[in-house]
Amino acid sequence: MVSSADTSRANSLPETTYFTKPPVDGEFVQVDKIAWQPMPEPFAHGGICWKLLHVSPELGSWTAYFKCPAGSHFSAHIHIGPGEYLLTKGKMEVRGGIENGGETAYELGYGYEPSSARHDHTYFPIDSEFYMSFVGPLHWIHEDGSTVAVTGWKELQDVWLQQTGIAA
Ligand SMILES: [Fe+2]
Repeated sequence: MVSSADTSRANSLPETTYFTKPPVDGEFVQVDKIAWQPMPEPFAHGGICWKLLHVSPELGSWTAYFKCPAGSHFSAHIHIGPGEYLLTKGKMEVRGGIENGGETAYELGYGYEPSSARHDHTYFPIDSEFYMSFVGPLHWIHEDGSTVAVTGWKELQDVWLQQTGIAA
């Protein structure tokens, strides 16, 4: 039962605003029509290139396609949120590869990496390509675990816009 005291308190509170949001627009990217951009150091070594396909400011997720020449590798990083990948070409050693307790993906391979996955050694012994969708940022680290940088959808979008000349 609602007392008159409850009613008068409710009346004194600011009005609650509820938002009705429209669905987000769909997107399409013709991947082979956009140019590869170099994945900047200190995040990657050996000529890794990328194409940023999508960012979601609301979810904090982002999606990219990577081209990794034989002998290339990513710097050490931790996935703040989970990620899913599809290796469309070549071979990728994740977490040191299967010989070191990690994973070795061969074309055509799918993998799921959970939140907090630490990737000290992501290496490509042969020319490779993979698609990956990330939730949340990557935390790039030194060997001792200290921070090099944290890159989320916003930072990566800024880099992409700069590289492609879309940014003013
Ligand atoms: Fe990773």
